[in-house]
Amino acid sequence: MLITIPDVLSQEEVVQFRKELDNTNWVDGKVTAGHQSAQVKDNMQLPESNPVAIDLGRKILRALEINPLFVSAALPAKIFPPLFNRYDGGHSFGNHVDNSIRRVPATAELVRTDLSVTLFLSSPEEYDGGELIIDDTYGAHSVKLPAGHLVLYPSSSLHRVLPVTRGSRVSSFFWLQSMVRRDAQRNLLLSLDVAIQQVAQDLPGHASLLEFTSVYHNLLREWAEV
Ligand code: NI
Repeated sequence: MLITIPDVLSQEEVVQFRKELDNTNWVDGKVTAGHQSAQVKDNMQLPESNPVAIDLGRKILRALEINPLFVSAALPAKIFPPLFNRYDGGHSFGNHVDNSIRRVPATAELVRTDLSVTLFLSSPEEYDGGELIIDDTYGAHSVKLPAGHLVLYPSSSLHRVLPVTRGSRVSSFFWLQSMVRRDAQRNLLLSLDVAIQQVAQDLPGHASLLEFTSVYHNLLREWAEV
């Protein structure tokens, strides 16, 4: 399931991010691509060791830690340090699937990629094309979000970025290992959590809230790997 998380970064933060990203050195995006994806990847990227990338990546992780919808939807166990890419002048990324396991740079830590994340840092008016197209069992979904919003999608999905024909599309992208590996189980937990929050708001103190909350935590206990 595709899940959109709005307003991960404020508009002021996006402006600050873009100022720093526009003034640093970009390299060919093939540096982090696996063999299959290198053949279809045509964009620019910041090296993992770039200090701007490291600093902004940490800021994104801090924003995500306090975002209740992101935490509830992703149930993150490990998050790969965010990377940054830029598409302009006809750049695109053809159909590919993300690598299943990623090693965190300069560490022995492995991250199984359960969910892929794209955080948009350009507003849709700044560029033409550049839609992220994600295939799932219901067909192809086109994603182009306001700056500061992100999309979460299963890393098992085939996906692509259409050519950018005007302007620049800047984004952060990364992967995470979820405490709950299976998409269907994670989505059930999200639905239940959203329903509990709604009941808590509309019928505060309702006797069934305790029972529903207990079911949520006991399902999470059944399904989570930590
Ligand atoms: Ni990808």
